[in-house]
Amino acid sequence: MINFNKHVAIGIIGAGTMGTGIAQVAATFGHRVVIFDQQKEQLNRSHENLTNVINRLVNKQKIDQRDGENILSRVTFTNSINDLASMGLIIEAIVEDLEVKKELFANLEDLVNENCFLATNTSSLSITSIAAACRIPQRVIGLHFFNPPPLMPLVEIVPGILTGSSVKEVLFNLMKEWGKVPVVAKDTPGFIVNKVARSFYGEALRIYEEGIADIPRIDYAMKRIGKFRMGPFELMDLIGNDVNYKVTETVFREFYYDQRYKPSITQKRYVEAGLYGRKSGKGFYDYTELQNAQLDELEPDSKLDSMIFERIIVMLINEAADTLMYNIASKEDIDLAMLNGVNYPKGLFKWADELGLDFVASRLSDLYEMYHEDRYRTSPIIAKMAKTNEKFYPNAKDF
Ligand SMILES: NC(=O)c1ccc[n+]([C@@H]2O[C@H](COP(=O)([O-])OP(=O)(O)OC[C@H]3O[C@@H](n4cnc5c(N)ncnc54)[C@H](O)[C@@H]3O)[C@@H](O)[C@H]2O)c1
Repeated sequence: MINFNKHVAIGIIGAGTMGTGIAQVAATFGHRVVIFDQQKEQLNRSHENLTNVINRLVNKQKIDQRDGENILSRVTFTNSINDLASMGLIIEAIVEDLEVKKELFANLEDLVNENCFLATNTSSLSITSIAAACRIPQRVIGLHFFNPPPLMPLVEIVPGILTGSSVKEVLFNLMKEWGKVPVVAKDTPGFIVNKVARSFYGEALRIYEEGIADIPRIDYAMKRIGKFRMGPFELMDLIGNDVNYKVTETVFREFYYDQRYKPSITQKRYVEAGLYGRKSGKGFYDYTELQNAQLDELEPDSKLDSMIFERIIVMLINEAADTLMYNIASKEDIDLAMLNGVNYPKGLFKWADELGLDFVASRLSDLYEMYHEDRYRTSPIIAKMAKTNEKFYPNAKDF
C-alpha cells in the first residue's frame, strides 16, 4: 500500500474559512499546497488571512521566522483549476451544495491523474452520492475537519460505500502525521459529531421552551455541573443560529424525520429575526453589551441545575449509544470525536460509566413516561447494559 508523505502535493478547492485553515495545516506539515477558488477576491482574502495567522504565530514565538516563511512559500493561490492537475490529494471545501460538489468532482476527474485521491470536507452531504458522480468512486472519501482546522484536532474520515479501503487507511495515517486525531465514521447524516451533538442544543432548547429554566440558567448548569466550556446557547450563538438550525434541519430530514432531531421553533424564530448570535451582534445573548455578565451574576440552584444537566447529559449518552448500535463508529472513536471536535470535557461513554448505566436508563425512562414521545426512547444498548450492570469501559485503563 502507498503511504502519503510530505512530498505529495495537496490541492485545496475553496479559499474560505475551512480551505484556508486546511491549507495551513498541510503546509505546516511540509506539503506543497495549491489553493483554487473561483473568486479572485476570496483568494486575496485567503492569502491575507493565512499571512496574518502565520505572522501572529511568529510574533508569539510559536514558530520561528524561518518556518513561517517556509510555510507561506509552500502555498500558492490560483483561479485556474488546471493548476491542480498534478496533485496527489485534493481536498474540496466549497459551498455545501450536493449538485455543485458532484459537478466539481466529475470535472476534476478529467483533470487529475488516476492515482489522485479526492476528499470532501462536507459536514452533512452523502459521500456516496458525491463519489457516485465519479468514474473512479473508490478514490473519493470524506475528510471532515472542524473549525478552525489548525486548532481543532478532530478529523472524521468518512468512506462512502464505494470508497476503497486503502484510501481510508492512507488518509487515516496521513491525518495522524499531520498531528490530527482521526476517527472513522460511517457515511450517515451528521457523521459522528454533528449527529451526537444535536441533543446538546435540542434538549436545551426544549427545556427553555417548556419554561423549566431560562437561557442563562441552562448555560450555567451545563458549565457548573457538566464543566462544559460553553453552555448550549452560548455555543449556538458562536456557531450561528442560522448554521446550527440548518444542520439540525438537515439531520432531521435525512434521518427520515426521526423525532429525536426535531428542530426547535424557538431557534427558527431567532433565525428569522436575524438573531444569529455573535456574528450579528445579538442572538440568545446581546454581544453589544458585556458578554457573560448574565451568567456571572447567577447563584447555584442545586436542584434545578442538576435536573437540567441530567436531562441533557442522558440525552447525549442515549444518542451516542444509538450511534454505536448502528455501527456508525466505535465507542472509542465516538468518545474521541466529542472530546476533540467539540471540546466536551469527557467522552460520553466514559460519562455514562461514571453516572452508572442504571441511572442513565432510569432518567431516560422517566422522560419517556412523562412525555410518551419517541424522542425519549431509550437506546436498546443502554437498556440492556443497565439490566446486566455493564460498563462501556470495564477496565479503567481503557479510558
Ligand atoms: N465553517 C465551518 O465551521 C465548517 C466546518 C466543517 C466543514 N465545513 C464545510 O466545509 C465547506 C466549506 O465551508 P466554509 O465555511 O469554508 O465556506 P466558505 O463560504 O468560507 O468558503 C467557500 C469557498 O468556496 C468557494 N467556492 C464556491 N463554489 C466554488 C466552486 N464551484 N469552485 C471553486 N470554489 C468555489 C467560494 O468562493 C468560497 O471562497 C462546506 O462544505 C462546509 O459544510 C464547514
